[in-house]
Amino acid sequence: MKAELNELITRVGPGTPCGELLRRYWQPVALVDEFNPALDPAMALRPVKAVRLLGQDLVLFRDARGAFGLLDRDCPHRGADLSFGRNEGDGLRCPFHGWKFDVAGRCLETPAEPPGSTLCQRVQQRSYPLIERSGVLFAWLGPIDATPPPLPAFDCFEAPASHTFAFKGLWHCNWLQAFEVGIDPAHASYLHRFFNDETLDAAYGRQFRGASAGEVGGERWPMTRVMREFGQPDISFATMPYGMQLTSLRPINDALTHTRVTNAIFPSTFVIPLSETMTITQIHVPVDDTHNYWYAIFTSFAEPVDRETMRAQRLEAVNLPDYIPKSGRHNNWGFDPEEQQTRTYLGMGESDINVHDQWACESMGAIQDRTREHLGTTDKVIMANRRNLIKAIETVQAGGTPPGVADATVAVQRTGPDTMDGLAPAQDCEGWWRNAVQARRDAAPWDARLPPAAAEAASSESSNTTGATA
Ligand code: FES
Ligand SMILES: [Fe+2]
Repeated sequence: MKAELNELITRVGPGTPCGELLRRYWQPVALVDEFNPALDPAMALRPVKAVRLLGQDLVLFRDARGAFGLLDRDCPHRGADLSFGRNEGDGLRCPFHGWKFDVAGRCLETPAEPPGSTLCQRVQQRSYPLIERSGVLFAWLGPIDATPPPLPAFDCFEAPASHTFAFKGLWHCNWLQAFEVGIDPAHASYLHRFFNDETLDAAYGRQFRGASAGEVGGERWPMTRVMREFGQPDISFATMPYGMQLTSLRPINDALTHTRVTNAIFPSTFVIPLSETMTITQIHVPVDDTHNYWYAIFTSFAEPVDRETMRAQRLEAVNLPDYIPKSGRHNNWGFDPEEQQTRTYLGMGESDINVHDQWACESMGAIQDRTREHLGTTDKVIMANRRNLIKAIETVQAGGTPPGVADATVAVQRTGPDTMDGLAPAQDCEGWWRNAVQARRDAAPWDARLPPAAAEAASSESSNTTGATA
């Protein structure tokens, strides 16, 4: 890849072509948990946070009515930092000269101005639309005069609160290399390889520790065993209304093929199976060009999510209030050569595989130099995604609408998506996994059925295009 193209697809600040594209989509700006005093005691006194998103400095706060506001951080008077503002319940007051703004950015007071001043009525701080869903606050940083698109009807947004759990973490690298790990089905056999399998009953909430659906000769197989023993997946993908659906086939024997179905939701989200009944929707949102937060929404299609367990597992790996990982470049991501020799392929711990992905992304450098890489057959999804990304950037540059935004007919098809990790009959992998995901949807305690139009579109797209592009 040429250096200019690498710049084009990675830089996201205001006014950059890729930044303009990403601003057309709802982006996560904080967890609702970040305002929970039990997790951040500072929030009891003052629910105000300085946040940075797509290279923009913003302030996020909650007023006494419980409404959230997201405003530009520089005070429209003379630019002081509003994240140090006085939260007065009905608005945020700049401590410099006392100008006060509500959650919609309306100026309520300019107390130093003379009596009768109407300056206040002419001042509007830019505020950005917010939606709270599944424990995450999403912001829309699109053009000021445009209407935000609806939030798509993905499972992670449709499931009730009892069946979702959200968490996040900061990675010190560009958003795209982080997303490209999530749509790379080959790495699971290497980066996340464990030399031994754990008992399956300790698997709750932990990625790759659960069993693949189905049995081999009457035996349940942990995902770790499949990934370890079958390291050459046959990867294909289908174009979908939301992006791409990836299928990775690992033939086990004449009768069985391990089938893993994952998804790339354009532009920066992937959806993968965590277990037979749970999925992970992971969004990589740029903080700026060299940092990104991953936001994961865990969605259960069976019993309610055990939030306390899931949160406690993940809190071990980060420091609050900013969800900064305890492992990183500063401590070699916890690298242990003895572990690498005896227990794992990588040597960076067995309890939290997120650190493995973090190392893969961060060790590339702040922005991966794609002029030096050599892509292989198993990188076909990454190549396709880059083509889609460049095309979408050009679409926005030409004044058009990028994929999946504000088009009502497409919006209703942006549902699901389905995931699978299971042992399928070798002769009919697709029929098997489609039945299995339908059964999971039918049995879910919440309405997880897909609208008929979406289900139809998904199957016809898939049969026409699976594997068509290499
Ligand atoms: S800079 Fe904020 S009130 Fe003057
Ligand atoms: Fe991974």
